[in-house]
Amino acid sequence: MLPSSAPDPLQNLLTTDRPIAPLTTWGVGGKAKVFAEPANEADLRAIVGYFASTGGDYRVLGGGSNVLVADGVLEDPILYLGALRERAILHEGAEIFVECGAGTALREIFALSVREGWGGLEHLAGIPGSLGGAIMGNAGTQEGAIGDAIHTVTTVEPDASTRTWQKGDIAWKYRETSLSAAEGRIVSRAVLRLTRSTRENVLQTASAVAHKRQQQPIAAKTAGCVFKNPPGDAAGRLLDAAGCKGLRAGDAAVSETHANFIENYGSSTASDILNLAYICRRKVEEAFGIKLAFEIKTIGIPRNMENDTEWPR
Ligand code: EPU
Repeated sequence: MLPSSAPDPLQNLLTTDRPIAPLTTWGVGGKAKVFAEPANEADLRAIVGYFASTGGDYRVLGGGSNVLVADGVLEDPILYLGALRERAILHEGAEIFVECGAGTALREIFALSVREGWGGLEHLAGIPGSLGGAIMGNAGTQEGAIGDAIHTVTTVEPDASTRTWQKGDIAWKYRETSLSAAEGRIVSRAVLRLTRSTRENVLQTASAVAHKRQQQPIAAKTAGCVFKNPPGDAAGRLLDAAGCKGLRAGDAAVSETHANFIENYGSSTASDILNLAYICRRKVEEAFGIKLAFEIKTIGIPRNMENDTEWPR
């Protein structure tokens, strides 16, 4: 049943009992009681305004490539940004300013930059997910992160207003930004600032970055790295040395290729993945006294997982 209080114009943007697993790269997760799919920023603001008026929480789903969605019924409405994909070239000279909706796939933006010979996104070659999610979590590789290529970010705030941030207004940290400080804030679009290059140069730089991906299980169902790297070390190295490779819980297994990836062999559940992640975390803590922090985001998983990420002092 749709929330009967939803105003008429919103009814066609809201559906019920929507399976979420197909929208995630892990391919796990239950059904959203209420699922909202705005087609543009005006819709997004209307939906956020409606949720604000009902006083309810909501959770945002972008590219689904860095998120663990709980099994069963998801009580909080899910706001899916996949349709926010407008694109406009605002200026093209020595520098290129291109605006993209938050739901645009990073891979699509990278492909465009190769086609047009625009530099600045080479270090993001091969990263899955959507622009909005990448910005929220400052996605990247060892060579650089999305924040490096940002000019402005526009967000829809929890009160449904919009706000445009200059790159310097935002603290770009390791797999984290200051944007996530406000619960319910949503990246709606962003302007990327790129440089004039050539297709050959872009491809050459990008292929060195993409080469690293060969040491990752790119063809498997994963959500990328599960844990953040602790200062001065690599979670993958620690998990490997603690003997995690090949460990299984149900149909989830720690990758034999890279120990910071958990693969869904086919019929894994979210709780298999969560159990396995906790086993791995405990093994690293027992072996090295280091408590790994989760890199992945969660939807519908009890809050204590997200909060339980402090480094031992
Ligand atoms: N290592 C092992 N065993 C493993 C995996 C890694 O010993 O099973 C060792 C490697 O030999 C290396 C070190 O750990 O000495 C670091 O590994 P790697 O070079 O693969 O990089 P990483 O730190 O694990 C980071 C990002 C990746 C990104 C790569 C390449 C994090 C948590 N991970 O991985 O990002 O693709 O660098 O730039 O920051 C992601 O964010 O989801 C992700 C996959």
